[in-house]
Amino acid sequence: MKGIILAGGNGTRLAPMTSVVSKQLLPVYDKPMIYYPLSVLLLGRITEILVIARPQDLPLFKQLLGDGSRFGARLDYAAQDSPRGLADALILGREHVGDDDVALILGDNIFHGHDFGGIVTDAIKNNTGATLFGYEVSDPERYGVAALDRNGELVDVVEKPANPPGNLAITGFYLYTNEALDVAAGLAPSPRGELEITDVNKHFVDRGRARIVPLTGGFAWLDAGTAESYVDACNYVHAIETRQGRKIACPEEIAFDAGLIGPAELLEAAGQFGSSEYGQYLKRHAGRGAA
Ligand code: TTP
Repeated sequence: MKGIILAGGNGTRLAPMTSVVSKQLLPVYDKPMIYYPLSVLLLGRITEILVIARPQDLPLFKQLLGDGSRFGARLDYAAQDSPRGLADALILGREHVGDDDVALILGDNIFHGHDFGGIVTDAIKNNTGATLFGYEVSDPERYGVAALDRNGELVDVVEKPANPPGNLAITGFYLYTNEALDVAAGLAPSPRGELEITDVNKHFVDRGRARIVPLTGGFAWLDAGTAESYVDACNYVHAIETRQGRKIACPEEIAFDAGLIGPAELLEAAGQFGSSEYGQYLKRHAGRGAA
């Protein structure tokens, strides 16, 4: 399975923070925002990853993440010249994905919870069309929302409904079989002018080949799109990391624990961050050995 991180968009709700810096490069407590979705893909053992960003931001993403070898991954880059919608990622990513299946994650989504790597690898194994990840929210009308039947099977997905069929929001992480590329290529823009990921999801729901994995039981899903949700995300990461002494979404650590890089590479990565707390953390982790 190939991965795509969609890290374009204008970040208008975060202006002026995003006037000159891409939203997904802003720090969420101790690391750039894009580390969080990158970590999710690595937890799922997805290592061939396309980063999509605005043309003017791509050089900074490349400078930050390089070719991905520091994380035992291979990173490619593509420009999205205007925010045509989430499904555009599946059009821009066609060459990168080739004949493979694809995991798409939004560059401003943060996931944290017990055994998320296991949840993702299981979901990849069981995917027969589309696999979505759901999260119960108090304000479902702001999101794509899942409608379930009484057996918990996914029967519909609706975008920002005035009367939500439930409170299970569809998060910004999607697994698809290769067919999704053709579905996206055939989409017309919605009334709001975007290629809607909900329309891709509907295609699979209508054919009985979409499932939703609810993320429950103390799981955290945060997006950092507004000043308030941004500061909430920073505070969440700070609180958990300080309490537990373990980092959330440290891609070098995840790669090391997954055996994608060895101690020498982890130490080299640590060296790049000098005496920073992040660098010291990587150094200590290399000494402890893989989890
Ligand atoms: P949004 O939060 O919908 O858009 P945005 O990030 O540009 O923010 P704002 O509404 O404040 O202008 O997008 C969700 C994520 O998807 C975010 O990481 C940006 C990304 N995105 C793209 O990369 N390309 C697109 O065409 C769209 C619509 C979003």
